[in-house]
Parts: sequence; C-alpha cells; structure tokens
Amino acid sequence: MTTDEIMSLALGMSGYRRVPEDSAIFVPGNGIRKVLFGLDVSTAELQLAKTLGVDLVIAHHPPATTTEIWKVFLRHVEFMTAAGVPEDAALAAVAEKVEGLKLRGQAANYDHVPSVARLLGIPFMNVHAPLDELGRRRMREQVDAVLTRGRATVGDVVEALRALPEMRAAHTAVQLAMGEGATPVRKVVVAHGAYTNGGYPVARTCFAHGIDLVVYIHIDFGELQRLRAEGRGNLIVTGHLAGDSLGFTPFLRELRERGLEVTTFSGVIEPTA
Ligand SMILES: [Fe+2]
Ligand SMILES: [Fe+2]
Repeated sequence: MTTDEIMSLALGMSGYRRVPEDSAIFVPGNGIRKVLFGLDVSTAELQLAKTLGVDLVIAHHPPATTTEIWKVFLRHVEFMTAAGVPEDAALAAVAEKVEGLKLRGQAANYDHVPSVARLLGIPFMNVHAPLDELGRRRMREQVDAVLTRGRATVGDVVEALRALPEMRAAHTAVQLAMGEGATPVRKVVVAHGAYTNGGYPVARTCFAHGIDLVVYIHIDFGELQRLRAEGRGNLIVTGHLAGDSLGFTPFLRELRERGLEVTTFSGVIEPTA
C-alpha cells in the first residue's frame, strides 16, 4: 500500500472528504508492508522504527500543534448544534480555546519530528480526527442503544460504555466524573473527535441547553472542578487510551485485511477476543 491509500482508507471509513488539519502525511511512501502504529511518535520512536526495519510509522496524535489545527476543534460546534444548542452559544463555547490553539500553533515547532523522519528516510504520517470519529461512532451506538430502551439512567450509559472491549482491556475505568448514576437521561453528547475535549465551556454550554450528559475521553482537573462548582449536569470520562483505542480497532483490522503487518505500541489497546 501507499501512504495515500492508507490515508484514503481512514478518510473513507470515517466519512471525511479531505485530510483534516490534525492529520498529515509527512514523508510519503509506497510498497508498504510493515507498519508501526502508536499514539505518540517522537524522534526516538522514529529511530526505533528504523531499528525494527518497518516501512511506515503511523502516529495517532499530531506530532505538534500546527497553525490550522484549531479548525478541528470546531467539530464541537457541530456536536452541540446537532443536540439542539443554538449556534451562537456553541460558537461562544469554543471561542477561547480556538484563540489559545491559534497562539500555540504560532509557537510550536511543527517541523521537529517530521524533519527527523525526512533525515532518516522513513515514511511517516499521523491520523487523528478520522480515527477519533470512528471511536465516537462506536460510543454513540452504545449510548443510543441505551436511550432507545427507554427509562435510561446515567448509570446505564456508564455500563454500556464499560461493556466496550477496549474499555474492559484498559487499566483505566469509565468514570462518572460528575453527577449521579440514578439520574434519568434523555439527551447525551459524545464530544470526541474534535482535536481535544471541550473542557468546561463546552460541557457547561451543553448542560445550559437541555443536555443531561456529556461524554469526554479525558478532561483537566481544573476544568472539572469548575463544572462541579456549578452543580449542574452529568459528565462521563472514559479514559484516554481506552477512548482513543476505540477508533483504532476497526482501522487496524482493515489494514491487516489488506495484508499489512502492523505492530502497535505507545498506548494502543488491542482487545484480545
Ligand atoms: Fe484521539
Ligand atoms: Fe488522544
């Protein structure tokens, strides 16, 4: 396979029509058979890949914040408006983070890791939002199955997410970070696949507009404390590696079905079963 074919596969599976700003082919390659796939790839991991003799390294997380990456964070606006949050409120909820990401993009050395891949002559790419979208859909399916049963509680949603094999295999547990398990739930936003979690402003805006429960894969403690101080809404945190790995499983299956030999590392949870 070529790096273009591998990127197209990820885009096609997740419904992306173009490569989002948090994903890229840094060093293209073709005739790829052996792949190293991990969450975080830096310069040492590229050297490791060279030592292992692989043909391509695929990272999940972008190797640096680029100037355009804030655009992916706007996915939160789509999640919120789809759940009935007015667009102006949704845009206000992401405004501060967008500004911060723009500044970080100005500061970051976006070329450091890719430049090492070029010098080593090793094909290198990262696929972020498309794989997170695959994971979001799997969580959404679990949530919708609970909601359509009727008389659902927050605790039922926690249980449904815990049942996913990647969640069971992880060292972390799906956690009700805020709220009560017995609380009835009708409207849920699974806010994953938008570069990073929406923190305090996105969850608060959801709760202010009739959403009972928000699902993140992780959140900063300070942001959680701000939400708790307001005492409204329910928040589930799935665990980072578990949540990310939900999107890897279907993608890795497709790569292997195409004859690629994929070695996983750096936090990829592959459920055995
Ligand atoms: Fe992710
Ligand atoms: Fe992640």
